[in-house]
Parts: sequence; structure tokens; C-alpha cells
Amino acid sequence: MAHVSTMIADDIEQYLSTHQTKGLLRFITCGSVDDGKSTLIGRLLYESKMLFEDQLSQLEADSKKVGTQGGDLDFALLVDGLTAEREQGITIDVAYRFFSTEKRKFIVADTPGHEQYTRNMVTGASTADVAIILIDARKGVLTQTRRHSYLVSLIGIRRIVVAINKLDMVDYAQDVFDRIEAEYREFARQIGLENIVCIPMSALRGDNVTGPSANTPWYQGSALMEYLETVPIEDDAQRSGPFRLPVQWVNRPHLNFRGYAGNIVSGDIRRGERIRVLPSGKESRVASIITATGECDSAACGQSVTLTLEDEIDVSRGDVIARTDAPPAVADQFEATLVWMSDEPMLPGRPYLLKIGTRLVGATGAQPKYKINVNTLEHLAARTLDLNEIGVCNLSLDQPIAFDTYAENRDTGGFIVIDRLTNNTVGAGMLHFALRRSQNVHWQAIDVDRAAHAALKGQTPRIAWFTGLSGAGKSTIANLVEKKLHALGKHTYLLDGDNVRHGLNKDLGFSEADRVENIRRVAEVARLMTDAGLITLVSFISPFRAERNMARALAGAGVFVEIFVDTPIDVAEQRDPKGLYKKARRGELKNFTGIDSPYEPPEQPEIRIDTTTDSPEQAAERVVAYLLGDGNPH
Ligand code: ADX
Repeated sequence: MAHVSTMIADDIEQYLSTHQTKGLLRFITCGSVDDGKSTLIGRLLYESKMLFEDQLSQLEADSKKVGTQGGDLDFALLVDGLTAEREQGITIDVAYRFFSTEKRKFIVADTPGHEQYTRNMVTGASTADVAIILIDARKGVLTQTRRHSYLVSLIGIRRIVVAINKLDMVDYAQDVFDRIEAEYREFARQIGLENIVCIPMSALRGDNVTGPSANTPWYQGSALMEYLETVPIEDDAQRSGPFRLPVQWVNRPHLNFRGYAGNIVSGDIRRGERIRVLPSGKESRVASIITATGECDSAACGQSVTLTLEDEIDVSRGDVIARTDAPPAVADQFEATLVWMSDEPMLPGRPYLLKIGTRLVGATGAQPKYKINVNTLEHLAARTLDLNEIGVCNLSLDQPIAFDTYAENRDTGGFIVIDRLTNNTVGAGMLHFALRRSQNVHWQAIDVDRAAHAALKGQTPRIAWFTGLSGAGKSTIANLVEKKLHALGKHTYLLDGDNVRHGLNKDLGFSEADRVENIRRVAEVARLMTDAGLITLVSFISPFRAERNMARALAGAGVFVEIFVDTPIDVAEQRDPKGLYKKARRGELKNFTGIDSPYEPPEQPEIRIDTTTDSPEQAAERVVAYLLGDGNPH
């Protein structure tokens, strides 16, 4: 089915240029299909004549097939049809639909509205001027309504239309409308949303969508379309803010040209102005500005440009170019609001990727300071964030970034969180401020360093990381390895799960979050021990790949030796040296690895030990040979 209402980028440009003189309003609709969202969008497209003839006749035919009430056109069929079609192709989370009237042109971000689709909402809302919150008059204000409104306020949309929809189903009763309006306004007041208009509506019947309805004589306000056509489009503060160009691409076609390309996300720039590149702090002057239409003297927010500089300085993808008079700050630790969007909870200490502007960096979150109950707005204690939960926590990045606070700039202050293993977007967030410690705690250079310690001991520091199920034989083998190394005059230390859990980690249990923290601390301790020049043996179940990878990255190249003590669960269970498998089977021990908590086997361990064929003695010999660098690695 051909359609005009879903377009791709090129079409957007063309569409916008043919309607250049009219103002543009961007809005987002929040609600579920059940609330009548698709019907509303469908009707807006229909009333603004943005449908082709063939779409209309298709719509009439489809509407007859499903037999809508009263023979009306079923607009939801139309929009849902487009959505389904879209979903078969590439997965985009938000569909931007376009329409225009005599007075204005519009872009509506249509986001799938199920409870779990918070992510799409955050994406769609980030550029919107207005949010339409749909409420089903029969259901009133729901948790979802509150969550969406809360997100809208976090994202920074100031104008809200509350479409109290399906009023025909409650006989256009004013008291129903009044009650919902009062309840919504009370909630909105608490989250600081001020500019609110409530409209009694039936998107299906067309009441108060494009014109006043005879069914609601008690309502004196404007219909939705009138509101959308006349609401002031505020001059975006970000547009007039300081110049920011996140570098998307370094264009170097030949030796004589080096350009830095990207989209200007705020402010403007002129040829000859002094710029600074962040986070490096290097400075130069703008030599030329090249846009799609050729060279220009200046460029402004919203334009895609390539800049060339007078000096040859180091600039890479992810850097931010700013003017020297108003550069962004640089830091690596922040307080931020996090909106979690994954079925897998956010785990403090787990390494994630964070994408801010065009920069991708490693990041870990601390335990949330609190999460927010969107119904009561209470701050609740939290150890993790689950799907759709919103919380505030400190983030620590593995390298400094240039940033603005989200309140100043949505592009250089907003970010998404990506899972390192699946590459899925699992969260989104807004930077509040840099933590002082990120400026005030410096790395102290120590003269007697790892190399000096190691030289005195006459050995190469290593981390021998034993991973495997409980009862696999990790500790037995690690213990033997240490005895052998010791006998050879090597300086060693053995960190064992059961022992460390009696001291340093006695505050931790066996939930996913606690295991992540358990391994994070042990990885840090192991690193300190290798700095001291020791051959460090680590014997922990360490069930998750992500944390083992983190330990590997922390240790540095060549130091980390992953030893997979591979014992099938039935063998480990048969051995059951501590009787824990029996307990777990009886249900007396929760979250037991291999029973009701997962174990993710290493994909490429340096050494794999099959304990059903190798004796502990043989296994230990192999490990020692590998660690001392004169053995066969596998
Ligand atoms: S890890 O998963 O966080 O790496 P760790 O190696 O520190 O675990 O501790 C595992 C030891 O704790 C096991 O050898 C076992 O003796 C004990 N233990 C107690 N409860 C559990 C449990 N639910 N799952 C696994 N091990 C447990």
C-alpha cells in the first residue's frame, strides 16, 4: 500500500520545503491503541486530507469488513495497517507522520503504546513541542497515564493536551470529564507540568477533534485541531544556546582535506571564529563551513555541516566542537535520571555502553539513590531498576566526555544505555550534573609501579580466573596451583569466593545484582594485587560473561587468564561437597547457580579443564605451565 503519511528522511526534506512558509509543530501522542490513539491520528490525517484516494477506498472496504459501529470509517485500521507494514521492514521504534492545514504543518511522533514501550515514547518525545496524553473516559487516569506524563515532564515538554477520549461511551457526561480533569491536574501540579488543556473528545465520532461538538455544549474550549494550529511554538532555547557540533564523521578523502561532519545541535558558527574541541581542549579557527548547498559564511542549529579548521589538530568521531567562549564541561562521573527499558534489570556495577551525542563510552551505574513511584511520586529505595522504572543514580564512565546538563541541551545532555552483549538499547537518561569527585579525585602516579614490584619478585603478574559451577572443582585446582607456584618460589595470593564472602563481601547475597557487585569488587582487588606484582588466583563461580569481561578489561592485556572449570551440572550435583544442591532441589536455597540462577559459560577461555577426564593434579600442571609462560596454552 502506498501512503503519504509515513515518510523517510528525503521525503521529509521535500515536504518541509514545499510548506516552508508555514510554522511547524511537532507533537507526540501518548496512550495505548485501546485509548483510541490510532483512531485519533487516523482522523487527523483524514481531516487534513493527507490520504490518497486508494488509501481511502481501502479504508472504506476494510471498515466494512470489520463492521465498525454505525458504519463509520475505522481510522485505527488505517494507522495500525501502516504500523504493521512498518514493523515488517526495518525495526524503527517511532513513526513520524506528517500533515498540514491552512495554518500550520505538523509532525506527529506515533509511538507504540503498550506499557513496555516506554523506550519508544522517550525517543519520540525528545523533539516534541506538545504532548497529547490520551485517557479513556471509562478508565480515567491510569498508572500508564502518570508514567507517560512523568516522562514527558522529564523530557522537558512543557505543553500538554489531555484528550479525554471515548466520551461517547459515557454519554458525553460532563461530570466524568470534570472528575478526570481534576484528578489529572492534581497529579500534573505535583510533577510541575503547568500548561495543560483538557479536551472532551470522541476520536471515533469526531467530537472536538477538528471543530466544536454539539454533544458537549458544556465545553467552551477549543477543539484539538484549533489548539494545535494556534498554540505558540516557543523559540527553542537550545537553538539560541552556545554552539555545539558533535562530530559524526571525519571526512578525509585525500591528504589536503580534512573535514569534520555532523549536525549542529545548538547555536551557530561563523567562518573565522575560534573553536575548541572537547574533551581534548585543543583549539583552532574555522577555516570553512560546507553545507549541502556549498560553502557558507555561517551555519546554525539543525544544519548538517562539514567544518575545516586552520590547524591540524586531532579530532575524532564523538568529539564535540564548540566556540572557545562557551565550551561544554568535561567529566567522567555524573548524577543522572535513568529510565530503564529492558526486561533485564539495570545492575549496579555491570559494564554497559553509553551513547551521548555521537560518542560511545563504557559506563557503569552505582546502586540507584532512589526510584520513583509514578503513582505517588514517592522516592523508593532500590537496588536495581526494572523494566519501565525511573530512578536517579550516579554513573561512572571509562573516559571523560564533553557534556551539558539535560536542562541546557537535550542532545549533549541526553543519552541512551546499550547492553554490551546484545547491543540492545536498555535505558535512556538525562545528565543532571558532573560529580565533584570527577574533577577533584585524580589518579596519583606512583613511582614504584607494577613493573617495579614485579621485577623485585622476578615474575610476571597474572590473574588466573577460575570460573565454573559450585562443586566444579575450582577451589581444589586453584589450591593445588598455588601450592605448586609457591614451591617454585612465586609470590601468589588466592582469592576464594567462600572466603571473600566472609569478609569484604559479607554484605552480599546471591541475587543477580549482588553477584555482579561481588565480582566487580573481586576484579578490582585482583587488579590491585597484580599491581603489587602478585600472581593472583581467583576462584569464584562468576556466572556472568559481562563481569568476567569487565575483569579482563580491568586487568589489562595479557594479564587475565580465564580458566573454565567445565564440570557438567549433573556431575557437580552428584559430588555436592557442601550439600547445597540437595538444599536447592528441596527449595531451601534460592537463586542457586545451575538450578534457578543462570551460568553463562566462557566463549573463549584461555584454558578449559574437563574435570571428568583431567585429574586435579593434571589440571593444575597445565595452569602452572601456562602462567609461567612455558606451557601449551590449551
Ligand atoms: S558468585 O556467583 O557470586 O561468583 P561465589 O563464587 O562468590 O558466587 O560464591 C559461591 C559459593 O557460595 C558456592 O561455592 C557455595 O558454596 C555458596 N553458595 C551459597 N548460596 C549459593 C547460591 N545460591 N548459588 C551459588 N552458590 C551459593
